[in-house]
Amino acid sequence: MSYSDFLNAIKAQDHEGIPVWFMRQAGRYMPEFSQIRNGRSIREMCKDPETVAHITELPVRKLGVDAAIIFHDILLPLEAMGLRVEYGKDGPSVRSNVMDLMARGKFFEYSKENDNYPLPESIHKFREGNPGVPLIGFSGGPITLASYIISEKRDGDLSLVRRMIHNEPQRFLEILRILTEMIIDFSKAQLRAGVSVIQIFDSWAGYLSGDMFSKIYSSYLREISAELTGLAPTIYFSTGTWHVQSVLEELGFDYLSVDWRRDILSYSNAIKESLGIQGNLDPALAASDLNVVKAEVMRIANGMKWKNNYIFNLGHGVPQFGSENILKEIVREVHSVTR
Ligand code: CP3
Repeated sequence: MSYSDFLNAIKAQDHEGIPVWFMRQAGRYMPEFSQIRNGRSIREMCKDPETVAHITELPVRKLGVDAAIIFHDILLPLEAMGLRVEYGKDGPSVRSNVMDLMARGKFFEYSKENDNYPLPESIHKFREGNPGVPLIGFSGGPITLASYIISEKRDGDLSLVRRMIHNEPQRFLEILRILTEMIIDFSKAQLRAGVSVIQIFDSWAGYLSGDMFSKIYSSYLREISAELTGLAPTIYFSTGTWHVQSVLEELGFDYLSVDWRRDILSYSNAIKESLGIQGNLDPALAASDLNVVKAEVMRIANGMKWKNNYIFNLGHGVPQFGSENILKEIVREVHSVTR
């Protein structure tokens, strides 16, 4: 592993090897995760800094990745805004009717005093035990969080959100505004506690139309990047957003994380050089024939090594069926390529 390669790449500074980490690198695919979890829910785990620090360092130790990402979830800060979040077998859900809460003034702005998760303590704990390891903090993107709030669970193709944008634009903008402020405050709290980078996970942004994205949504993202610029490097992750390509480049984030659908080699040549790129191995390869995986890793790593501000990752999170051994091999292969 090379922590300095990660820290240099994120700032577009010269370095030798290609840094690599994986979105959702600490999860159920890892046998030790279940042991540490010991039957607890993610909500319980995240209330214990010792557990969070321990899980956060697992992939660094076991896979040899170049950065850790603090173990938490994008939906947990919503609890400090008056919403009830649950994690069930079919994924997470928000067990509150936001319209009803808004009508009663019970959907309120985030404040860290209302946040019952000791995330700063967890960050300190990790830092104490792992000096020098780059630590990534994160938040959900406004539209991805809004999709869970408005539909009370994941809103497949954002159809409920899109209906609201058409029919109740003022309410929608109010939800986006209050979420944007949370994202900024929540990210700054993580930076104060000691994370080195902020990634915005906006998994479902690609379901917005080009017009919705550029005319309504992008200003909220610009506000987030503007508030964080100068405090730490920022990464914006989204999927299926090729139709808003030129807008993405002007959002003000230092890096764009590219999903697996895009040809990363031609993409990286088409954008301005100052914009960093992260990605984009197909997550389906996280459990495949080793030779097939290696060939694809080499194609991407060799094709991208010219770029100072490039970080290897998957095109989305590690799937539940991911294999620890394959991920370890991916890290080894990426590290064998020098720039
Ligand atoms: O990357 C990491 O290892 C850090 C931890 C992390 C989690 N969630 C832990 C988690 C991160 C970065 C996230 C981000 C997240 N959460 C996103 C954006 C990225 C993406 O995957 O699209 C989204 C949309 C969520 C919302 C969410 N939380 C979903 C869809 C799920 C269910 C997925 C699943 O695997 O069950 C969660 C629950 C969740 N978040 C778990 C973990 C480890 C599983 C909890 C459990 O086992 O009960």
